[in-house]
Amino acid sequence: MPSKVLNGPSCLKGIFVPPGDKSISHRAVMFGALAEGQSSFTHFLEAEDCLRTLTAFECMGVPMGLEKGTGRLTVDGVGLSGLCAPKGDLDMGNSGTSMRILLGILAGQRFKATLTGDPSLSSRPMRRVTQPLKKMGAQIKGRDNGNFAPLVIHGGRLKGIDFVNELSSAQVKSALLFAGLYAEGQTRIQEFIPSRDHTERFLRMCGAPLRQEGEWLVVEKAVRLSPLHMAIPGDISAAAFFLVGAAMTPGSFLTIENVCLNPTRTGVIRVLERMGAKIEIKRLKEEPEPVGCIYTEGCRLKGTRIPKEEIPALIDELPILMVAMALAEGESLITGAHELRVKETDRIQSMVHNLNAIGGSLQELPDGCIIKGVEHFSSGTGQSFGDHRTAMSLAVASLAAEGEIRVEDIDCVATSFPAFFAEFERLKQAA
Ligand code: S3P
Repeated sequence: MPSKVLNGPSCLKGIFVPPGDKSISHRAVMFGALAEGQSSFTHFLEAEDCLRTLTAFECMGVPMGLEKGTGRLTVDGVGLSGLCAPKGDLDMGNSGTSMRILLGILAGQRFKATLTGDPSLSSRPMRRVTQPLKKMGAQIKGRDNGNFAPLVIHGGRLKGIDFVNELSSAQVKSALLFAGLYAEGQTRIQEFIPSRDHTERFLRMCGAPLRQEGEWLVVEKAVRLSPLHMAIPGDISAAAFFLVGAAMTPGSFLTIENVCLNPTRTGVIRVLERMGAKIEIKRLKEEPEPVGCIYTEGCRLKGTRIPKEEIPALIDELPILMVAMALAEGESLITGAHELRVKETDRIQSMVHNLNAIGGSLQELPDGCIIKGVEHFSSGTGQSFGDHRTAMSLAVASLAAEGEIRVEDIDCVATSFPAFFAEFERLKQAA
């Protein structure tokens, strides 16, 4: 399995334009497919996960026009009831977002489909989506009573339900919102800690019947969705690797351009600011998604606490924030992050293991970790465990290493950020 050897100490300098947002790219394909007429997008993320979503819709008869290498995508939408039964299985690879949200769309179709995934995805819990979808009327079969892929779903004839999104999962919320477009009556969703709201923004853009009624988000059966024309903003979850890398290494100066600043995604900025990071933000646009630039200059950071309420807005950034905390002055604490245990790998275990292997001082908790800051990492080898964000976080940790850091099994970065290592090498300078 390919590995990479990286040498520290170094810092990051220059301008970085992040690849298209992964969550928004998945949804662009989905809404484009179900709209009536042609949608067009720029800056679509051509990474494995989003290409899985794209291929799944192609297999259901939706013509996709992707100009490879340019991020330009047209989708010839077939309308809410225009999808065809796929001939073979729909393989979602490593992508949890594709599988979970697609289940919501398939729940509304009157045909049968089988969803498969790689070994990591096949061991991730799906009951959170399949249980409420079954309540709405979909028939779903899979191991452990519909908890694990392969999953066979036969949709149609749905009725709306009331659902409390206890896990604050945007994937679950999105699956139910899509299913709600096909259901009789109202589908109502409540969440106590807000999860990312890209699906709601897309629904409004497409003219779907969505409204907020007190604490409930309410969607009703839709007749049609309008096509969209959208420039997909840069992904803050990809940008976070370089943002945190620059903010934590004295000598760094980094500008991040065209990045999505949706407040349900910017928890990483708020935490870095609390840690004493030097960050300036310029907002350039508000609709349909807030977009702007981030400027940062490196300095030694201070430890902080990340409580449960903050987790959904930075869930994917916790691995890289653990790197910053491992180098910060004093002690840091993460709690309420059980969900990290069921990501592409168990990210509490993977990050604690790897950062301790290169000279960090971290202790696992069931739902997070306690981190004692060190001044720098030493040298050593880390494992990605097949998880893209673990691999990229370790690579960034090498900026603060006295010696050589080897990251093993790095191919997984292609699921979300194929150009990561090229961009890292371009921005990296000896400290
Ligand atoms: C995503 C939601 C989050 C996130 C994932 C993408 C989405 O997952 O971790 O990378 O696009 O809706 P959960 O819904 O499981 O929190």
